[in-house]
Amino acid sequence: MSKKIKRLRNFNAQLRSVNEKLKTEILHRQEAEDNLKAAYHRLSDIIEFLPDATFVIDKDKKVIAWNKAIEEMTGVKKEEMIGKGDYAYSVPFYGKLRPLLLDLLTVPQEEIEAQYSYVKREKDGLYAEVFVPRIYGGKGAFVWAKAAPLFDNYGQIMGVVESIRDITDRKEAEAILRQDKESFEAMNKIKTEQLLLVQKELTDAKHLSEIGSLAATVAHELRNPLAAIRTAAYNIGKKSRNSCLVSHLNNIEKKVIECDQTINNLLSYSRVKVSRFEEVKIHAILKECITSAQDRYYKWKVRVIKKCNCAKSDNIYADPFQMRELFNNLLNNAFESFPEKKGKLVIQVDGLGNPDSIVISFIDNGMGINPNDLEKLSHPFFTTKSKGTGLGLTICRQLVNLHEGSMNFKSEIGRGTEVKVTLPRERKLK
Ligand SMILES: Nc1ncnc2c1ncn2[C@@H]1O[C@H](COP(=O)(O)OP(=O)(O)O)[C@@H](O)[C@H]1O
Ligand SMILES: [Mg+2]
Repeated sequence: MSKKIKRLRNFNAQLRSVNEKLKTEILHRQEAEDNLKAAYHRLSDIIEFLPDATFVIDKDKKVIAWNKAIEEMTGVKKEEMIGKGDYAYSVPFYGKLRPLLLDLLTVPQEEIEAQYSYVKREKDGLYAEVFVPRIYGGKGAFVWAKAAPLFDNYGQIMGVVESIRDITDRKEAEAILRQDKESFEAMNKIKTEQLLLVQKELTDAKHLSEIGSLAATVAHELRNPLAAIRTAAYNIGKKSRNSCLVSHLNNIEKKVIECDQTINNLLSYSRVKVSRFEEVKIHAILKECITSAQDRYYKWKVRVIKKCNCAKSDNIYADPFQMRELFNNLLNNAFESFPEKKGKLVIQVDGLGNPDSIVISFIDNGMGINPNDLEKLSHPFFTTKSKGTGLGLTICRQLVNLHEGSMNFKSEIGRGTEVKVTLPRERKLK
């Protein structure tokens, strides 16, 4: 009996010790569980107050955390979202059920790229930038999103966390910067082009002024010997009774006049031009120039018609001498455009209904101008005539510019040319 009692006591003692161990074990576990709960609460608190919109799903893709910032971003309270699965968390973002970044952690890169405009796989998860249409009450916003897996102590995935940040401001700033850069580049391009143009004009001007002074010197030097030749021819004519000589002398006289005209052109081109503006009777000047052109080309059968669509008393502010030079040059060209020395020339003045300017057109039905030559017309020394100086239109262009007017050409080979000169009526005060 005593043996039995002894065994029982022994057994009892063992039980007590096991019981003690169990109690300590339970206590440890309790402590561990409390620690875990505390840790979980701390984590929930941290997530709750993170400045970025953040949510967490567990292994079964059910929402276990939905923080304050994401409530504000989506307008959906955590009570409505906690415990929800089947992609319910995507509805506040896209208005439909679809995977979000945190569902794509294990999906191949190409598949992710099909859904996100910018996506990058990082060591600890995925990073993406995308426009989300439904957040902020349907206003939508550009966001960046970051998704990362959460592991337990044994390295097993226990869930996934995703953080989302509104980057609309940054995107807008980037767009503004891009726009600024583009407009700056465009402006820069325009400025460079303008600079190049000015540089070219300067080079041209320098070139022209060099040509101008050379032309002036040559013209000046030729003038005296020419005058001497003319006087000599005159004297020979007076003294000689030989009638055979008369036609030769006339020829000398004619050629001297031609040379004189060329010299005048050269001098006129090279002279520094200043306009003396006064009120001029433009119709009277034009008429005078037409008459003298008809005298110069008296052998030519050219029908000259002057049309006037404005008041005859229309005066403009201009330099009368320069106007004569302008009209003479244009009339000469028009007469010289008739290879058969016959044709029709219309001179038309339009001013009705335009208080600011008048337009004078010289329309011939002469040989016309080759389209390739049109842009060279005002270049100094451009001529298609065997005896031309190629300075007439250069001078005309200068004169028109001095008057702040414009000169345009329309021409068709074999059909004729129209030169339109527009001149302001008044002098603009600067
Ligand atoms: N009305 C016109 N019809 C045909 N060609 C013209 C006319 N006006 C000017 N041109 C062309 O423009 C060129 C330049 O004219 P211009 O500067 O007056 O010099 P030039 O008369 O000495 O040749 C002429 O040689 C001619 O080829
Ligand atoms: Mg000419």
